[in-house]
Amino acid sequence: MEYRPLGESGLTVSVIGMGCWPMAGVGWTGIDDEASLAALEAAMDGGITLIDTAYMYGRNGESERLVGRAIAGRRDQIVLATKCGLYWDGTTLLRDSSRKRILEQVEESLRRLNTDYIDLYQVHAPDEDTPFEETAATLAELKAQGKIRAIGVSNYDVAQMKTFAGQAPLHSDQPPYNPLIRDIEAEILPHCRDNNIGVISYWPLYKGLLTGKYGRGHRFPEGDSRNEDPRFQGEELAGTLDTLDRLKPIGDAYGKSLAQLIIHWIARQPGITSVLCGATRPAHVEQNIEAVGWQLSGEHQRQVDEILADLGD
Ligand SMILES: NC(=O)c1ccc[n+]([C@@H]2O[C@H](COP(=O)([O-])OP(=O)(O)OC[C@H]3O[C@@H](n4cnc5c(N)ncnc54)[C@H](OP(=O)(O)O)[C@@H]3O)[C@@H](O)[C@H]2O)c1
Repeated sequence: MEYRPLGESGLTVSVIGMGCWPMAGVGWTGIDDEASLAALEAAMDGGITLIDTAYMYGRNGESERLVGRAIAGRRDQIVLATKCGLYWDGTTLLRDSSRKRILEQVEESLRRLNTDYIDLYQVHAPDEDTPFEETAATLAELKAQGKIRAIGVSNYDVAQMKTFAGQAPLHSDQPPYNPLIRDIEAEILPHCRDNNIGVISYWPLYKGLLTGKYGRGHRFPEGDSRNEDPRFQGEELAGTLDTLDRLKPIGDAYGKSLAQLIIHWIARQPGITSVLCGATRPAHVEQNIEAVGWQLSGEHQRQVDEILADLGD
């Protein structure tokens, strides 16, 4: 495993991070807590230090609770990242990054995670009804108290990051990034590189789509939100699968799967600090760890770039 500094936070994180959304069981079906715990074990055994969860992962904090169980006894080896500012009202997801809400959420997250500090505390998404300065000042206050060690945001644009950073140190951003969704290359990645802000990217496999394992006409079990996602349907899916078919022989030449090749490509993009890979099965985690620690030849790198250029929005 390779490790990189997370902006100016003083933290060092594994280039592959463990994403703990799927194990929350919201919108994903067939989740098994024991398998999720085994996946977390496999992550830590394989050298993953960055574990990413959130207050809203699970209608009642299921993901944070599982993470809390998994890291017991290994807390000091882990960079524990969670997020605030979103919460469930029944099945409706609401935003609130006010000082009052964050001060409540951080205490609840600390209890669920069974720890007295969070390494990286991230604002989950911009809340236009709360001044960004108020949100930033609240996280700075928590950092001064030692409850959190580093401060991040997620899903912010550059202007929002600048406003936030006027009030508190900003150590990381967490945006979506994969060969299908490349908007951050225009402004966000350059801004983060120029300002030494770490970038923890999410959706590397676009919810499993970029593994190529969900073929044309695939239907998920009822209740799986991917059945409603246009990228998993019809022409859009067929176009993506055609492109992945062209990529596959390159992965084969290195004994690597499509998932490993895609994660590898993301981890090599300038400005990316860590790639969050979601998983609920140990075998997936073990494969994702093997996405780094090897290199494509210059010619193969060029071919991969050329093929993936056909996928972006
Ligand atoms: N900040 C935000 O707003 C935000 C939003 C979304 C995600 N995130 C974070 O980013 C993480 C990653 O996103 P994600 O989990 O939604 O998507 P992802 O990592 O792109 O895909 C995860 C899914 O891909 C499949 N998979 C993973 N590794 C595989 C492998 N080696 N071979 C075959 N299939 C594999 C599994 O699907 P199956 O279960 O179907 O096998 C898994 O559930 C999340 O867990 C979360 O921590 C953050």
